[in-house]
Amino acid sequence: EIRAFKHRTAFHFQPDKNWMNDPNGPMYYQGYYHLFYQYNPEGAVWGNIIWGHAVSTDLVNWRHLEPALKGDQWYDIRGIWSGSATILPDGSPVVMYTGWSNASVQIQSMALPANKSDPLLRQWLKAPQNPVAEVPAGYNADQFRDPTTAWKGPDGVWRLLVGANAGESGTIGTALLYKSLDFQTWNFTQRLHSVTGTGMWECPDFYPVSLSGALLGAETSVYGPTVKHVLKISANDMKHDYYSVGTYVTGNDTFLPESVNLDAGIGLRYDYGKFYASKSFFDQFKSRRILFGWVNESNTEDANIHKGWASVMSIPRQVWLDNRTTTDLIQYPVEELTSLHGRNVSYENVTLEVGAFVKVDGISGNQLDIEVSFGMPNMSRAALQPPELLAEFGQLECAQRSSDGNTGIGPFGVYVLATDDFQELTAIYFQVLQSPGEGLKILVCSDQSRSSVAPNLDTAAFGSFVRVYDDDQFLTLRILVDHSIVETFVQGGRTVITSRVYPEHALDDAAHIFLFNNGTAPITATMTTIWNMNSIHITEFSRT
Ligand code: FRU
Repeated sequence: EIRAFKHRTAFHFQPDKNWMNDPNGPMYYQGYYHLFYQYNPEGAVWGNIIWGHAVSTDLVNWRHLEPALKGDQWYDIRGIWSGSATILPDGSPVVMYTGWSNASVQIQSMALPANKSDPLLRQWLKAPQNPVAEVPAGYNADQFRDPTTAWKGPDGVWRLLVGANAGESGTIGTALLYKSLDFQTWNFTQRLHSVTGTGMWECPDFYPVSLSGALLGAETSVYGPTVKHVLKISANDMKHDYYSVGTYVTGNDTFLPESVNLDAGIGLRYDYGKFYASKSFFDQFKSRRILFGWVNESNTEDANIHKGWASVMSIPRQVWLDNRTTTDLIQYPVEELTSLHGRNVSYENVTLEVGAFVKVDGISGNQLDIEVSFGMPNMSRAALQPPELLAEFGQLECAQRSSDGNTGIGPFGVYVLATDDFQELTAIYFQVLQSPGEGLKILVCSDQSRSSVAPNLDTAAFGSFVRVYDDDQFLTLRILVDHSIVETFVQGGRTVITSRVYPEHALDDAAHIFLFNNGTAPITATMTTIWNMNSIHITEFSRT
């Protein structure tokens, strides 16, 4: 029974079997959240790509529907690749996607619902004028894909981006700007933005965030002094999603990053673990912006074929600007997720002496929502430095250190999916780093190196730095554990790290949670609350 396989998730979105990659065209329409995704109906490896389709009323429980789009035209016969949805001013949706053509080139096309009064949008029709955009002169038709949601400029003209590579030898990631007066005919006009040395840009995303820092999201066409704009790109060479916050100059359609050091492809990441080809949408029902990302496996292709499935979708995250900066986003699991909360335990003020490992009593398992706050370690806050420029360096630090380190303040944190003998454990921990001249930085790591005794797994340690402000009283972790995925939201979502793990022994009742302190000074876990998570309802597709 494939679904019963021990590493299959219980509260993440997955197709019932086979390969999945990017989320496509997420939107809210007539009471339903729609999620489309890159899907191989024939196996657990990439290939034969069509758009799978599912709907949800709460972003938690899902109902699978018939695939929305399959390749059946010369311009998409080899595959229906990634794309986005736009809700037109009259409320009706349109999707734009990349087709892989009979000649194996990438071409952009449109599809429309056959019946707008069906809230499930079960049937899609390809536009008669397809394809709507072939590769412009001077660009490579093998690197021309993934149209964004369209937005309307102040001049009333529609715009969207297509990811590409402007370098002769593959070194200038770029987002090509297309315009349309009527949403029927699209013309390439210019590049919105490019960054040398970042490789091809896949799956661009471009959207406003409110400058007030309100959690309220902005509809994609909003522009002007109340917002900043986010340009997100998926760097094909690095397989990471990078974002940059900046100003969208509507007059000449350019994007000016707040900081050139934090430009797209070289600065901040949504996630410092596994998270790629993500896409956001404005949820007009709850006025918020929501982000889905593709979380790939960390085991071998053979293992995927054997288990019959590959990849999970991230828990949907709400995303907004941290208004103590003009550069950084905050991401946090959508509030609906707590509807899965089952029984919980809660402990206050657990002191972790030097070398302590404290087992959390009364709860165990591999479906958990964990919240832990640690009292701020005794350190000079004045010496704290903004971490942004060292983001990639964080990963290196986590790989070289370990949760056993004992180097000063930290490592301290949480073991999840841990056996009693520590043969298997996944460590999520803080470490305060002091570098001469640079002050203190707070590193956070998700270390998979001991997560499983099984061979042939990618057990790299992931990590980054986290922003901590003078008035922060705690260092906090929220960790979602779901069989083979561990998602960590640090300081309320200022830094996020997603990992895949495949324990052999730390399963069900044998999977425990520990608080630990391997630093040289005591630390207090001021509040620890852990919930069992119920499984979601997934309704399989049936024709009747
Ligand atoms: C990103 C990506 C997209 C492409 C799709 C094909 O993972 O390579 O650029 O449209 O996947 O499945």
